[in-house]
Amino acid sequence: MSAVGGTPAEPVVNIHNEWDPLEEIIVGRLEGLLIPAWEPDMLGCMYEEYFDFYRTRGGEEWPAAEIQAAQRELDELISILEGEGVTVRRPDLREYGGQLRTPHWSVPNELGVANPRDSLLVIGKDIIETPMAWRSRYFETFAYRPLIKEYYARGANWVAAPKPELRDGLYKESFTAAGPGEPPRFVLNELEPVFDAADAIKCGRDIFMGLSSTCNEAGIEWLQRYLDATHPDTYRVHRLVFNDPHAMHIDATFYPLAPGKLLVHPERVTSIPSLFKDWDVLRTPDPCVPDSYPLYFSSKWMNANVLMLDASRVIVAAGEVNTIKAFKDWGLEVIECPFWNFNNFGGSFHCATLDIRRRGSLENYF
Ligand code: ALA
Repeated sequence: MSAVGGTPAEPVVNIHNEWDPLEEIIVGRLEGLLIPAWEPDMLGCMYEEYFDFYRTRGGEEWPAAEIQAAQRELDELISILEGEGVTVRRPDLREYGGQLRTPHWSVPNELGVANPRDSLLVIGKDIIETPMAWRSRYFETFAYRPLIKEYYARGANWVAAPKPELRDGLYKESFTAAGPGEPPRFVLNELEPVFDAADAIKCGRDIFMGLSSTCNEAGIEWLQRYLDATHPDTYRVHRLVFNDPHAMHIDATFYPLAPGKLLVHPERVTSIPSLFKDWDVLRTPDPCVPDSYPLYFSSKWMNANVLMLDASRVIVAAGEVNTIKAFKDWGLEVIECPFWNFNNFGGSFHCATLDIRRRGSLENYF
């Protein structure tokens, strides 16, 4: 692809890490989001205090006041990004009510698209539709298809991982969360590759994936083999295991924020991979979100789920004073945005977005 005058055009999709200067991003939507009905895929991910909530309220709309408060925060995030010159794109509006049926199962409703970080993995100029482990998210990428088709027309690569069958046997029926001191365990069997894009985090040629209740060994192997086949001798996919009894996604646990700066969860990460021996490691400070926020899908550690505008500027939830101070002491410029209400619906700034283009090239950071 070349532009007028022979200068090579910037690729429309270009992501190699979490910190190159951000130029274009997708921000999710709260419109249409529904309470997912209880399914075996949720057993390893969800917190026990909400099991009955999903069993009894699945298919209903979320409390309107909670959605409205979260929407105001999402709008503020969008205006911060646009104010910084970032192009913000949005998925399609869709209805998520109504049964979804495949040859092997049906669910009474779908979830929605609040968290774009999970269904699409962007590596270089490749957009990979991920083989997601939750049935209520089976067709989540469809809301992004108009955008994906546009990016594809403008030169991006587009591929979908093999659509998983998600039969009952994929999920361990007798799963219980690991107690203190017990080795990590996950709800998934190895019948087929599954992972969410947020189970992976990018650091140039090195991609780190955490085994979890949405990411199995077969999923990690699929990604390494896909990358080897399409980009020989280019990427190394590293498999990590964390002490997280509800493991789902890496981006509040192990997060290379900028060259030389690794953010890790203080309890889940018990050993730092030797590759990072020359990096500064910051253990995520205690979260400040009050107990009154009903975090329906996640732990309180959403203070780590930040978004880098570039290698020195980071968006952090207003009120997370411990994290804000630690980041400033670490030499980062902090941009605060209220986001605790949004956190209730599955994540913070990293989950709520999907990087499409950052200005930079593929590098080896180790
Ligand atoms: N599921 C992860 C957590 O709650 C992101 O910390």
